[in-house]
Amino acid sequence: MIEKNNKMEKIVSLCKRRGFVFQGSEIYGGLAGTWDYGPYGVALKNNVKNLWFKMFVEDREDMYGMDAAIIMNSKAWEASGHISGFSDPLIDCKKCGHRFRVDQIENKEKCPDCGGKLGEERQFNMMFKTFVGATEDESAVSYLRPETAGGMFVNFKNILDSLHPKLPFGLGQIGKAFRNEIAPRDFVFRSREFEQMEVEYFVKPECWEESFNEWKKVMLDWCEAIGLQKSHIHELEVLDGERAHYSKRTIDFEFDYSFGRKELYGLAYRTDFDLKSHSAKSGLDLSYYDEETKERFIPHVIEPSLGVDRTILAVLLEAYTEDDLGGETRAYLKLSPKLAPVKVAVFPLLKNKPELVEKAREIYEILKKEFKCEFDDNGNIGKRYRRQDEIGTPFCVTVDFDTLEKKEGMTVRDRDTGKQERVPEEDLISFLKEKLS
Ligand code: GAP
Repeated sequence: MIEKNNKMEKIVSLCKRRGFVFQGSEIYGGLAGTWDYGPYGVALKNNVKNLWFKMFVEDREDMYGMDAAIIMNSKAWEASGHISGFSDPLIDCKKCGHRFRVDQIENKEKCPDCGGKLGEERQFNMMFKTFVGATEDESAVSYLRPETAGGMFVNFKNILDSLHPKLPFGLGQIGKAFRNEIAPRDFVFRSREFEQMEVEYFVKPECWEESFNEWKKVMLDWCEAIGLQKSHIHELEVLDGERAHYSKRTIDFEFDYSFGRKELYGLAYRTDFDLKSHSAKSGLDLSYYDEETKERFIPHVIEPSLGVDRTILAVLLEAYTEDDLGGETRAYLKLSPKLAPVKVAVFPLLKNKPELVEKAREIYEILKKEFKCEFDDNGNIGKRYRRQDEIGTPFCVTVDFDTLEKKEGMTVRDRDTGKQERVPEEDLISFLKEKLS
């Protein structure tokens, strides 16, 4: 059993050591709340995003993909209520100047860092402000989006006019969102630049509850598909007064992170708040005409919202395992093959035997047409296994002397058990395909 605090440290260290995630701008001392994904991190992230897009968009007839601009006309953020209401209560220390989120400190009088006196509580808008174009005046002000949702609402009419979908239907998009969080923390859990995978699902007003429950089920199926244990996911009904300004009902899906039970995803009933507000602000009619009932109305919206980075962290916490193998403690990522950055690694047993290297390369060239593969002849074979274990590669194929001399095929090592079995060359692809499926 790995101690909870310890587990997070081990994951952060593994992510750096193996090229999953690095601190943002590290050589300049970092930039708080930013993280850079390295080669294996990108591969893991892409696998998460591709699976989400398939499950939430491509596999459904009622969903359409979108990729809207990150910077939007600031009127969109006035309409959505983010300029007036997207803020956290903040408090400053009068002595050291440190800032704290009011809900994250116990004593509202005394600075948790230096003991100095805390000032008055005030609202702090979390949107990053910027200027579009060459002039830096009020008319050029814009914001980096704090959620991807807005880009979908402002395109509702474009989708109606170009694809003519019937209700219920939805838009899904994956993309970056930015929040000037007062207290970014817990690795990629709360950062200032992160990614979201969001659905805005448009329904007839009287059908909202049915759709809400349907999407709740899809979200739970998703958690299972990425390998999160059911017992680690908890639904929290968010109370009146604690929900976002646009929501009439919200369920948070919380996950048992090693630093506590915290929000992983959210599912919200946004009513007709957004379309109505954008309609009023833009002066354009964003209603829907129902040909069957001959009625015109503003659709209501159900929104499943999933953070990519919180998904990555939950998946890593679930996958990180230590065991005893060959008398040594080893760490490995028990990732589902769907998410593993590399599916199969191919090695020659010894790197200084050209005939082994040549055969291993030949096998690698064949396998890489079928699977995401990696060839490795660095260091000794034990080190290569350890490296692939930490990357979460489900299978390692090794070419040894019996492969060449006795034509007995190659060994295939299973990441989770460390056991090896010999598989004839002609069966290798079907063997791996079956195991990886
Ligand atoms: N459109 C709805 C919305 O943005 P939210 O609960 O503020 O709702 C949705 O955010 C999800 O985005 C969260 O459940 C979480 O997964 C992710 N998220 C929000 N803030 C984040 C942050 N600062 N860092 C990383 N992920 C974040």
